Amino acid sequence: MKITIAYATKTGTSAQAARQLADILTARGYEAAAYDLAAGKPDMTADAFVLGGSIRMGRWHGRARRFARANEAALLRKPLALFACRCGKEDLRTLFAKQIGEKLVAHAVFVDGFGGDMLLEKQKGLDRFFVKMALKSGENGEMSTGGVDEQNMNACADALIRALVP
Ligand SMILES: Cc1cc2nc3c(=O)[nH]c(=O)nc-3n(C[C@H](O)[C@H](O)[C@H](O)COP(=O)(O)O)c2cc1C
Repeated sequence: MKITIAYATKTGTSAQAARQLADILTARGYEAAAYDLAAGKPDMTADAFVLGGSIRMGRWHGRARRFARANEAALLRKPLALFACRCGKEDLRTLFAKQIGEKLVAHAVFVDGFGGDMLLEKQKGLDRFFVKMALKSGENGEMSTGGVDEQNMNACADALIRALVP
């Protein structure tokens, strides 16, 4: 069975998470592949779909939002998982419902964060400035910046497999 993992990233964390999830699913016998939405439309013929991307300034990556809205009907037809790479702790079901609509969130078999980081060397332009300020002021104390979260990726794989093999 095929699983498509489509992601939108700015500094590579969501790409790393998508590839790691693909490895977990492949090790469990599925044909899983990660697709960068910046490279065009991913394979829509898979049996299940994962859509993920990072959050900045409270907003899920624009490419992930646009893809979700433009492909809602197709995504509602198969098991769906939604993830975000982020450092904050906002409730993702509420955030996604506001930004891509409640239908997809209600349909998803998994909605959660896959971790995140705020490494200064990865940032450019204004983002670099914001991260520098946050590091200086200690505002990042409440954030999780430990990189990708493998435990949640395994939980995502479990939820998808349960939906595919009831
Ligand atoms: C300028 C800036 C704003 C951010 N805003 C948020 C935010 O609102 N909520 C959050 O949880 N994480 C926020 N983050 C953390 C990012 O989501 C985190 O760096 C993530 O790993 C980026 O993933 P990406 O490399 O796939 O783009 C922010 C990071 C930066 C640099």
